[in-house]
Amino acid sequence: MCLGRTQRIGMSHLPSYREDDAIGPLQRDEAIALFGIIRTIRPKVVVEFGFFHGHSAFNFLQALPGDSRLYSYDIDAESIKRAKTEFNFDQRFAFIGKSQTDFDPGDIENQAIDFVFFDAAHELELNIQTFQRIIACLAPEGMIAIHDTGLWHRSHFAPIHETFTRECRGEWKDEDFYAHQPGERAFIDWILLEYQDFSAIHFHTPRTLRHGFSLLQRKRSLAS
Ligand SMILES: C[S@@+](CC[C@H](N)C(=O)[O-])C[C@H]1O[C@@H](n2cnc3c(N)ncnc32)[C@H](O)[C@@H]1O
Repeated sequence: MCLGRTQRIGMSHLPSYREDDAIGPLQRDEAIALFGIIRTIRPKVVVEFGFFHGHSAFNFLQALPGDSRLYSYDIDAESIKRAKTEFNFDQRFAFIGKSQTDFDPGDIENQAIDFVFFDAAHELELNIQTFQRIIACLAPEGMIAIHDTGLWHRSHFAPIHETFTRECRGEWKDEDFYAHQPGERAFIDWILLEYQDFSAIHFHTPRTLRHGFSLLQRKRSLAS
């Protein structure tokens, strides 16, 4: 039996996550950060948009307490198959095979959302529609995490990033910095403009190849 400081806390999956060449799933060090955030705040209800192959979902499940629930959305046939066959081990997990824009409070049993993770469409208009559907369900201290809000610095590019810049719809901000998902960055600006009761903090850096994520929460006074 493991006791006290030697007790296992479910982090053994993290070294297997990719860091420098991860495109699609979140990066290993982002997974470590999100694992710590989830362990810290222990949300009861987590909603994820963008299951893909389940890396972020598995990470959330490893960090979440036994009485929490994770609701994960995806529309891709392969993702739907994987969620049904590879994630049926965990009763806390519910997969919803529909678009993020079709979110309905009934999908999550009309519960308040404590933590929501946006990592699906990467399109401003679809994210706005989704936000407008979830905002009434967000708990007063609920947290919103949005993936892919950072800039890639050219000095850290691997061949996969060179290929991405040629084939995808990102944009160079200057000679060195590339926005791989400009829609996610615009989404943050839109939230902060339209919902001025929210503030944001960004987990971005030019010191490594970082997709980046942002955390948003309603402002509140702690003293009063
Ligand atoms: C970047 S991947 C998600 C990665 C995953 N969060 C992880 O870190 O392991 C994006 C996923 O969003 C899904 N997606 C794209 N548009 C969507 C939409 N409108 N609604 C729900 N899922 C969508 C794609 O099928 C894809 O599996």
